[in-house]
Amino acid sequence: MSIRINVDGQMGTEEDRLLSPLDQGFLFGASVYETIRTYDGVPFVLERHLERLRASAEALGIDIDVSMETLTERLRATLEEAGNAESSIRIVISAGIGAIDYRAGSARKPTVVIIVRPLPAFPESLYQSGAKAAFVTVMRASRGNLSPKIKSSNLLNNIMALRQAHEKGAYEALLLNGRGEVCEGSMSNVFVVRGGAVATPPLSSGLLEGITREHVIEIARGNGIELEEKTCTPEDLLGADEVFITASAREVVPIVRVDETTIGDGKPGPVTQKIIKCYQVHVRALMSTTETVD
Ligand code: PDD
Repeated sequence: MSIRINVDGQMGTEEDRLLSPLDQGFLFGASVYETIRTYDGVPFVLERHLERLRASAEALGIDIDVSMETLTERLRATLEEAGNAESSIRIVISAGIGAIDYRAGSARKPTVVIIVRPLPAFPESLYQSGAKAAFVTVMRASRGNLSPKIKSSNLLNNIMALRQAHEKGAYEALLLNGRGEVCEGSMSNVFVVRGGAVATPPLSSGLLEGITREHVIEIARGNGIELEEKTCTPEDLLGADEVFITASAREVVPIVRVDETTIGDGKPGPVTQKIIKCYQVHVRALMSTTETVD
């Protein structure tokens, strides 16, 4: 079990200082990233993550100058060096080394970082008993600010939101948008269940287009569960029968309490449990058709 870090093709560990302090990713948070997990050592839906990475980079004017084949090859080598049974992968692409000012184009060569670490163990109790979430005062970016569609490493709002949630003893923070609608978690998308039907805030609420969210939408619809993308107020969420959150590494996590309100009967509900099961089947089905990276 180890951490391996590949910077622009150079392999190292967390002990190695492979990055320049003049990298604009470090100086200004000018970088984009993806978190990907492996199943049986193989990255899950890697192509979709690389597509979102490319879109995020493009939106920030970061011109990725390595091919996706080269990136995939570096990832393969880094996974092999790390030698973990299961890994969490973070690919970060920054604007690169440039001047200490904001002028566009002052950084010319993006820095490409791949971090492979052992997949953190998520306790079974998280899925069997569920977790607590809390509304926070930090808001998701509103119009005119950095688009929530861009998966940027500029994560201070998310960090502050999660910190507030932790202060309330909660596992995840729930962020509202400028209109007061439920948007998403600090590191997850959110779903509510009422009368057996599932709803999740639409992209127009200003959220990250989560890849797990996409899969859950597909899974629900493919398994006869009604699912709608519709705006959700905090009252809708607090009055729901079930709530759950989704993210690549954690998959589908039931939320059984939000602030002081117990959701449903305080246990993961039947729809959430069904989606958790179907997600596992879905992952296995997709992995069996995925070519390994080695
Ligand atoms: N983040 N919304 C936000 C703000 C996120 O940061 C994430 C995931 C998601 C879920 O996206 P996906 O299903 O594609 O993982 C939604 C990961 C966990 C991260 O920051 O490492």
